[in-house]
Amino acid sequence: MGKFQVLDHPLIQHKLSIIRDKNCGTREFRQCVNEIAELMVYEVSRDMPLEDVEVETPITKATTKRLAGKKVVVVPILRAGIGMVDGILELIPAAKVGHIGMYRDEETLQPHEYFVKMPDDLENREMIIVDPMLATGGSAIMAVDALKKRGAKSIKFVCLVAAPEGVKAFHEAHPDVDIYSASLDEYLNEDGYIVPGLGDAGDRLFGTK
Ligand code: PRP
Ligand code: URA
Repeated sequence: MGKFQVLDHPLIQHKLSIIRDKNCGTREFRQCVNEIAELMVYEVSRDMPLEDVEVETPITKATTKRLAGKKVVVVPILRAGIGMVDGILELIPAAKVGHIGMYRDEETLQPHEYFVKMPDDLENREMIIVDPMLATGGSAIMAVDALKKRGAKSIKFVCLVAAPEGVKAFHEAHPDVDIYSASLDEYLNEDGYIVPGLGDAGDRLFGTK
């Protein structure tokens, strides 16, 4: 079974409180989402493989470590996942970025895929899917399906707020994929929104509605 880990660093929890407040405006919301993503990726990347490399320091030759293998791919689920990308690239600036466009039907809550653009050779890359919200889990499950269909073998899912219903559905669908979240919230309401949550993440990031 995949792991579900809440990253409860005080700075993450502090910034999450700021964006939960309905009076937090677009500019501050956007900034905090990126900052939380940046703080989270430090922990998410903890098990990345390393390899030895020879360098010449100003003093002597030395054997040191660098990240092994092909470049990591950050995959935002559009739209709201876009809000986390810059924060992650602050710490992994060489990462590639693949995009998955998906929207949730407001009536049925079913996800619909409308766009996928990935780098090559997903088989040999670490994939980090980002989306602030894991609600029913439908979008995240479909995003992982889309990556696996294209050959991805090593995938992590990173969100800010997760509902227990979404975590359960995701683990059942993809037991090989770990989830990292800044919070495990209480439940989904009848409209499919996470409670207490933070509302519609896409609208709050982009100032729509
Ligand atoms: C939101 C959110 C997730 C999805 C989560 O996107 O960003 O992608 O809902 O819900 P689920 O777990 O029930 O699938 P939305 O469909 O509102 O699209 P948007 O980001 O374009 O606003
Ligand atoms: N999508 C959001 O943006 N917010 C929720 O609470 C649930 C799905």
